[in-house]
Amino acid sequence: MPNALATTPVAAKPAATVPAAPAESAPAIERAAVFTAKGLAKTYDMGEFRVHALMDVDLTIYKGEFIVLLGASGSGKSTLLNILGGLDRPSSGTAQFADHDLTHASDDELTLYRRDHVGFVFQFYNLIPSLTVRENVELVTDIAKDPMLALEALTRVGLAERVDHFPSQLSGGEQ
Ligand SMILES: Nc1ncnc2c1ncn2[C@@H]1O[C@H](COP(=O)(O)OP(=O)(O)O)[C@@H](O)[C@H]1O
Ligand SMILES: [Mg+2]
Repeated sequence: MPNALATTPVAAKPAATVPAAPAESAPAIERAAVFTAKGLAKTYDMGEFRVHALMDVDLTIYKGEFIVLLGASGSGKSTLLNILGGLDRPSSGTAQFADHDLTHASDDELTLYRRDHVGFVFQFYNLIPSLTVRENVELVTDIAKDPMLALEALTRVGLAERVDHFPSQLSGGEQ
């Protein structure tokens, strides 16, 4: 993938990288592409200058793959994930999830895409400070199709004892 960050006056940083394709000697397996991005670019217009956060990114992710996106801070990882997660749109290029076109989708279509297909764990958890742990999780179960019970989900991650705590009463890891 080409350098994901570019051009003056923004200092160039190493591009985020994705793992190389399997060696050619690996047996050929028919794999279904889940994510396909072609020529993806994202430019933030800052008035005086423009930040080229992504430039000409091609990416295919196949069903069942577990992907680590690795790169220096500022190399465009969050920008790419925001586009693949339907939170933002590219400046140019195309991004597709199965048969969902993420490039031209309306806001409503992206909302449904996120609701039905994407799970986010944000760097800053985006918990609602005035809601308890149980209520924060119930917010999601309100909009999900066929959701797991909040208490069951919290029990699975060892937080059954914390359901009535507020986010500020949790450790960083618990949050
Ligand atoms: N909303 C924004 N407006 C302007 N520039 C941004 C914005 N978001 C990110 N950037 C810039 O785009 C580049 C890529 O950022 P980002 O995708 O957050 O990097 P990473 O997640 O790899 O640390 C950085 O130079 C960052 O400063
Ligand atoms: Mg980031």
